[in-house]
Amino acid sequence: MAVTANIHRKLVARLLLGWLVLSIVLSVAVFFIKLESIDEFVEDLAIAESKPLLHDKKFFTLNATEEEREDIVEKLSIHIEQAHFIKVDLYNAKHEKLYEVAAKNIADIEKIEKYFESKDHTSLFSDNLSYKRVFIDGRIFLQVFVPLFDEANNKYGYFEGVYRADDKTMNDVKHLLIGSLLIVVAAVLVTAIIFYPIVMAMNKDLIKLSKDLSDANIGMLEALGSAIAKRDSDTNSHNYRVTIYAVMLGEVLKLKDGQMRSLIKGSFLHDIGKIAISDNILLKPGKLTQEEFEQMKTHVRHGVDIVEKYAWLRDAVDIVAYHHERYDGSGYLGRITGEAIPLNARIFALADVFDALTSKRPYKEPFSYEKTIEILKGDSGKHFDPALLEVFIGLSGELYGKTYNNEDAVLEKTLNELIRKYF
Ligand SMILES: [Fe+2]
Repeated sequence: MAVTANIHRKLVARLLLGWLVLSIVLSVAVFFIKLESIDEFVEDLAIAESKPLLHDKKFFTLNATEEEREDIVEKLSIHIEQAHFIKVDLYNAKHEKLYEVAAKNIADIEKIEKYFESKDHTSLFSDNLSYKRVFIDGRIFLQVFVPLFDEANNKYGYFEGVYRADDKTMNDVKHLLIGSLLIVVAAVLVTAIIFYPIVMAMNKDLIKLSKDLSDANIGMLEALGSAIAKRDSDTNSHNYRVTIYAVMLGEVLKLKDGQMRSLIKGSFLHDIGKIAISDNILLKPGKLTQEEFEQMKTHVRHGVDIVEKYAWLRDAVDIVAYHHERYDGSGYLGRITGEAIPLNARIFALADVFDALTSKRPYKEPFSYEKTIEILKGDSGKHFDPALLEVFIGLSGELYGKTYNNEDAVLEKTLNELIRKYF
């Protein structure tokens, strides 16, 4: 179930990401296309507006009479009033400015004039019409330069107009952008929704294969855990209980799903290395000699050898390698201390000892819940991480009630539910 849900989640996330990226890219494209159309409009306007000035070279002589100058200024003013140009300048062929006329009834006209005058004009004085688009306070402005030629194709001046998009144009741009954006976003979203079931249908076999593989891996995990349980006891209940305890503590600690999977694998396989310990040590009813105990300790190393060989089991190594370490460094095999012991191994140590104390063993009767808690508390900071112990004690009553005296079948069902949640 978790495998399928995971594939669904990933597909939805990727479709959403694709939707977002496409929406942004297409919206930006729509925006620039609209700007281009404004540019074309202004270009046409500038050509049309500069036409009356063509062939009238007297506008471009430095020694025009006062009357001629007034006439020119009046003509330029008309351009301004009629054509949304807010500033019109004329230059002679030597790039010397001869006339400049600005609109009078536009807010911030001085600021706008200053802005354009402060810019370098060199690149605009060319043989071709050229323009620059700028945004000032959220409004579009276009500076257009039209070179003027006589019949003999001699350049005698330049027409410069600064076009200001009026309120209607700005509103049109806004509406078109919002409208296009909504259409693009909706179209891409609908496409993603249509694609989702198609992609899922195409991946059906793959999903089934992934699920079968996951089931096979979990089956192998259970088989390996059972194999070692069969060697030193008749039931799987110890493995089931310690895994349930560890998972419950992991959930309270809000571990991520990946770490929960490592915790489950590690808990189930913690003593897998005991497969390599000889029967006369593993099954010895009495106390082990020092030498035998040294042999017994090697189950940790054997366990690491086994789980490290298989990628799917490799993340169980934290618990397999460090489940006999103690918080104060008196454990084995590494004798590491405190938080140097991986978190999963510190969690598991609590689950393992809690189960050992509350269970019947060949050499002891089960301790009561109260006695068990007393013993655990006595080992705070010695065997156990004190912070984890406190959290564990908080939920131990519930754990004990849920698992104490339960048959293998009941424990197996509880554990399977937990496994399905994370795999
Ligand atoms: Fe062990």
